[in-house]
Amino acid sequence: MAVENKDPVVHLDRGFWVVTAILAVLSAIAIVGVVLWRVQDIPQLPEAVIPANQIDALFKFLTASAAAIFIIVIGYLVYFAVKFRHRATDAPDAVGVQIHDNRKLEFWWTVIPSVFIILLGIFSIRIWYEVQIQPNSGLVLEAIGHQWYYDFRYPGVHGVVTNEMHLPLGVPVTLHTTSQDVIHSFWMPAMRLKADMVPGLINTLRFTPTKAGRYKIICTEFCGTLHSEMQKQVIVIEPQAQFNAWLNGWKKKNAHASDAVPSASAANAPVNLSGGVASSGQQLFSQKCTACHALGPFSQRVVGPGLRGVLHDPSHPKLVDGDPATPDTVAKIVKNGFDGDMGHMPNAQQNALTDKDIADLVAYLNTLK
Ligand code: CUA
Repeated sequence: MAVENKDPVVHLDRGFWVVTAILAVLSAIAIVGVVLWRVQDIPQLPEAVIPANQIDALFKFLTASAAAIFIIVIGYLVYFAVKFRHRATDAPDAVGVQIHDNRKLEFWWTVIPSVFIILLGIFSIRIWYEVQIQPNSGLVLEAIGHQWYYDFRYPGVHGVVTNEMHLPLGVPVTLHTTSQDVIHSFWMPAMRLKADMVPGLINTLRFTPTKAGRYKIICTEFCGTLHSEMQKQVIVIEPQAQFNAWLNGWKKKNAHASDAVPSASAANAPVNLSGGVASSGQQLFSQKCTACHALGPFSQRVVGPGLRGVLHDPSHPKLVDGDPATPDTVAKIVKNGFDGDMGHMPNAQQNALTDKDIADLVAYLNTLK
């Protein structure tokens, strides 16, 4: 037996249409506001690469849609809550008007979100393809995450380049990222690009720098005590000639560096400490060491121990590795790094320290009494 549909006819009164008009106007204002918003005028956020402007467009499309949906949903929610509120004259157990099987309503609330999601899908897949898949010819380089810095490898340069990632203006870049220890995340806000750096996995980003300048790299995955230090390195986008000069500098500097993991015998070879300059060492110390070492007494720990008097403290005649404190044993730790109770100290290669740098550092540490 067919059930007769006896839904009461609900008439939408004038109040409903007034509210609808107000919400339409508010949504339009929000959409126009988002569309006109120049994200790229925020100092940290220039659109420094292709496809940053497409990513901004996608972001605006999402933000404008979300703003309109938010205004409409909350607007009607408030309107209906007030309009159909429980009134003093209603019976205590009164039930509101029940509406079901409204084909027209169901058709539209299915079609509109579906079309929206399909458009959003097409929009994002096109950008995703460009960033992740589309092959490009140009510079291919690697970024490797470490606790707590990034290394970069460039074609034709032995070993690694540290501190700054340089890119030539207008040349397509393929950037392969990975990690040597824990999971980091390589975020370049000015490029609107981010890749998780996962040990054993290579995540690739493709883009073309379009604006010269210096831009931040920020690690956005908590990766240990000095996670917050991983926003000190920068990307330098510069004209091709300047980039070439920089790259040639590293080719020369790293001419004798090995691409292989340092062997045990090389690691054990003592560093020649003659000619160390304390003032140069002091400068290096402030750049490379102060993140983990205070200039106070041994007990003043940051990550590693305080280093004032590391070579002249009768109460600590031995270093953390158990060796007696001498310039040579200090140099050995700076060269090879150290793992112990206090954590991990990167080796000289990771800190981008040459033997001369180590000699300077030891000369400086020797002056701290
Ligand atoms: Cu690396 Cu957080």
